[in-house]
Amino acid sequence: MSSRQRWATKTGLILALAGNAIGLGNFLRFPVQAAQNGGGAFMIPYFFALLVIGIPMMWVECSIGRLGGKHGHGHAAGMIALLWDHPAAKYVGALGLFIPFTIVLYYSYITSWCLAFSLFSIAGSYEGLITRAEMGSFLKGFQGVSTNEHFASLATAYAAYLATLGITIAVLLGGVAKGIERLAKTAIPLLFVIGAVLVVRVLTLGTPDAAFPERTVSNGLGFVWNPDFSSLGDASVWIAAAGQIFFTLSVGWGIIHTYVSYLHENDDIALTGMATVGINELAEVVLGGTIALTAAVAFFGISGTEDIARGGGFDLGFQAMPVIFQRVPAGNLLGALWFALLFFGGITSAVAMAQPMIALAQESWGLSRRRAVAYLSVVMFVLTQPVIFCQRHGFLDELDYWVGAVALVVFALAEIVIFGWVFGLDRGWREIERGAAIAPPRFFRVVIKFVTPTFLAAILGWWAVTEFPAKLAMEGVAAESRPYIIAARVMIVALLIGVFALVRAASSGWTSLGREDAQ
Ligand code: ALA
Repeated sequence: MSSRQRWATKTGLILALAGNAIGLGNFLRFPVQAAQNGGGAFMIPYFFALLVIGIPMMWVECSIGRLGGKHGHGHAAGMIALLWDHPAAKYVGALGLFIPFTIVLYYSYITSWCLAFSLFSIAGSYEGLITRAEMGSFLKGFQGVSTNEHFASLATAYAAYLATLGITIAVLLGGVAKGIERLAKTAIPLLFVIGAVLVVRVLTLGTPDAAFPERTVSNGLGFVWNPDFSSLGDASVWIAAAGQIFFTLSVGWGIIHTYVSYLHENDDIALTGMATVGINELAEVVLGGTIALTAAVAFFGISGTEDIARGGGFDLGFQAMPVIFQRVPAGNLLGALWFALLFFGGITSAVAMAQPMIALAQESWGLSRRRAVAYLSVVMFVLTQPVIFCQRHGFLDELDYWVGAVALVVFALAEIVIFGWVFGLDRGWREIERGAAIAPPRFFRVVIKFVTPTFLAAILGWWAVTEFPAKLAMEGVAAESRPYIIAARVMIVALLIGVFALVRAASSGWTSLGREDAQ
């Protein structure tokens, strides 16, 4: 379609893809996953998952996206229907609309906390709260999980959410080149500058408390980088590593498809995909691995850090880090920088999550960008209300579990099987190589066809046997929270049905490539 939006520059595309990938997953989720799974013991499965899931999925999704764009599709539903001539294809692809749209509902809300906490840091709002328990109470008050002396209501959190939604809408209204690309060109370099400042500060912490000589920066680095082979037999570490790769690279979401659809049909994707992976990994293992983890070990020791990690990403990012920053000079500024880093990562990912639905609305019903963004924003705003008001009952975590962890793997598995086996590996590989600025190693043909699908099927099978029954039965969920968990599940199913209905309505003119491109 000649009227498709395009990226203004190659650098802009790479920064936008990096902005999509780099996010809360790099700075909050990664350190926690690494600490929960034994530090150095996590890194071997992590790099394995990067090799057999991250890189091949990135290339597969980039090639599907560029091919889809050539045929006028900016979303995975139309693209999967292009690859597989079957009535079910569009519903498989619809997962690539459902997933980012559901995740953005809570992801933007968490991003808004980062904005608020950055301002709190500058204003000194949490000054004097120097234990994790005190900061935890501040965070819970802010989130409305409990009312306390710090916050009487959710008003502050709500205002931060509205501001974040407003910024997201403003960026989306600008479109691909003038909105998303411009944001990425500013936010991503800034994020790396802030990250570098924080890394230097953390690496010069030395031994902050002489009473604990083992709590040092070098022990923090050693915790992540000393390989530990003892946990390699533990399936849960491998699954955690794979889950992290899905989340951090945004593969299995449906977003990469959309972003790459704004390229021309012979533009390189091989190097672009690798550059995206490389930039994201730099942000993840160098910045994400060093800042929060090393600082936490230097102040709380290894067992203290593992204890914080058991509480999840919010405990590390929003409780432990402010406590740490208050113990070093210029802590207010460092705290503001830390939360600004999270905010820039979060907002560049949030706009990416909203874009596939906008593409569907514009392409299928001819809506103007303004109208598509307006409709989407209203729906997003309404559906985020239960996330905000029912957080204490685990509503947000329930959405994150089923969509932000399980659905990604289901979609990725379906997609790579369709790519390697239905569309055909030879045709698929030609797509990856078309216009390539680097030669992708042919070893990845075997990975795409056999290794990735087998690994993903094994992960899903293991999950179905070991976790699914207990999770479905809501084991361990307090009785008063059960109605909210059920409500979250109803919302997930309703959203899925809604997206299926939209895709069905939009699909009347969609065609499959059949054997058209086969040689
Ligand atoms: N890939 C994005 C992140 O890491 C969603 O947060």
